[in-house]
Formats: sequence, structure tokens, C-alpha cells
Amino acid sequence: MEKKVVASLDLTDRENLLNLTKKIKNEIFAVKINWPTILSCGVDVISDLSQYARVICDLKIADIPNTNRMIMEIIRERGPFAVIAHSFQGMDSIKALMDASESVKVIGVVSMSNQGASRYLNPLHDRILNDLKEVSVYGIIAPGNDYELLGEIAKNKDGLKIFSPGIGAQGGSPVSALVNGADYVIIGRSIYNSTEPVNYVRTINEEIEKISN
Ligand code: XMP
Repeated sequence: MEKKVVASLDLTDRENLLNLTKKIKNEIFAVKINWPTILSCGVDVISDLSQYARVICDLKIADIPNTNRMIMEIIRERGPFAVIAHSFQGMDSIKALMDASESVKVIGVVSMSNQGASRYLNPLHDRILNDLKEVSVYGIIAPGNDYELLGEIAKNKDGLKIFSPGIGAQGGSPVSALVNGADYVIIGRSIYNSTEPVNYVRTINEEIEKISN
């Protein structure tokens, strides 16, 4: 069965990050890295990690089209699987990323898992999702700790892949997120702070396999 866990390895030490990636790679769909890792380890950490696993760069890019294009050109040379971008700034910016992406997939943020997102971003989820479908991004981000919102987004996702953070440390459960429409669950602190990260993910994989049978 295809693995459903994206390990958000928000580590700032390159050796620790590479070691954990090597240990965990067969248990996960992809590794996700974010600004703390890239700022600490340098942008080439993307190509280093890509030797072992699919890499999703969670940059939440949110700039004008020309800047987005420049960012994508730098990132794509390092061979990541996908890049996460914000979508609220408009589809011209998303299209610029996609035009420059070559084989890199674009994942757009539809709504966020933090509490504050309910005030500004999350009420826009329908409009954002419809626009992202029109430009045919590969995937979207929807919260894995708000099952009602996740379910609503999943109903309307058509062919887009849903990646759901907000699992573990932010309260969501991997199985409940998948049952409510997520295609992949993003898990960070609960994995890398675990004393046995590989076993921890194996246990989650076993729980996921049970609901798939
Ligand atoms: P934790 O430790 O909370 O890590 O499991 C989650 C990772 O995912 C990022 N994150 C989000 N990214 N939309 C996103 O695009 C969200 O709603 C969201 N919530 C968490 C977080 O920065 C960390 O890297």
C-alpha cells in the first residue's frame, strides 16, 4: 500500500536530518522541510534529502508572479518533489510558479490548521479551492485537526490531492484525517520528538492499513 505519512522534519541540524531521513524513508510518502531547515542548512539540503526521499518544500510562497518564478527556478534545480505555496495572493502568482515548475508539483494552501486562520484565511476556502482547481495544481493543504472543514474541502476537491497538517502536536489524528478526506497526513513534532521515530511511524502505518482493508 502507498504510504500516507509525510514526515515534516523541521530539524535545523543537517546530520540529524539526513540520519532520520535515511532511517524513516521506507515508512513515509515524503519528507517535508520548512524555512527553519532551509535557513539553517542552506538550500542544497533539498538535493541532499532528495537522494533518499521525495522532498516537499513548505515555503508557503506568497509573492508577486516574477518573484515566485525566481524562487521556483532556484528550488527546482535541487530536484524536490513539490513546493507548497500560499494561494490567497491570487492565481497569477500560482500560475507563475507552475509555469516555472518543470517537474516540480505545486501544492496550494486552501486553509490552515492554526487557530488564527479561522479569522482571515479559512472563510475563503471555497473560493480558493475553486480557483486552484481551475489552474490545475497538483495538491492542496487542508487542516487535519478540523474534520468538518477538511470534509467540506474534500467533497469539492475533484482530482486534487489533499495534504493535511495539524496532526499530533496540533490535535488531529492521522486516521480521522484520512477518513475525513485527506490523501496524506503531515506529521512533524510527534515524529521527530519521539524517542523511536521509525517505530512511531510504523504504528501509524499499521493503524492506517486497518482502515484501508
Ligand atoms: P507539527 O509539528 O505541527 O508540524 O506536526 C507541522 C508542519 O506543517 C506546517 N504546518 C502547516 N503548513 N498549512 C501549511 O501549509 C497549515 O495549516 C500548517 N499547519 C502546520 C508547520 O509549519 C510544520 O512545518
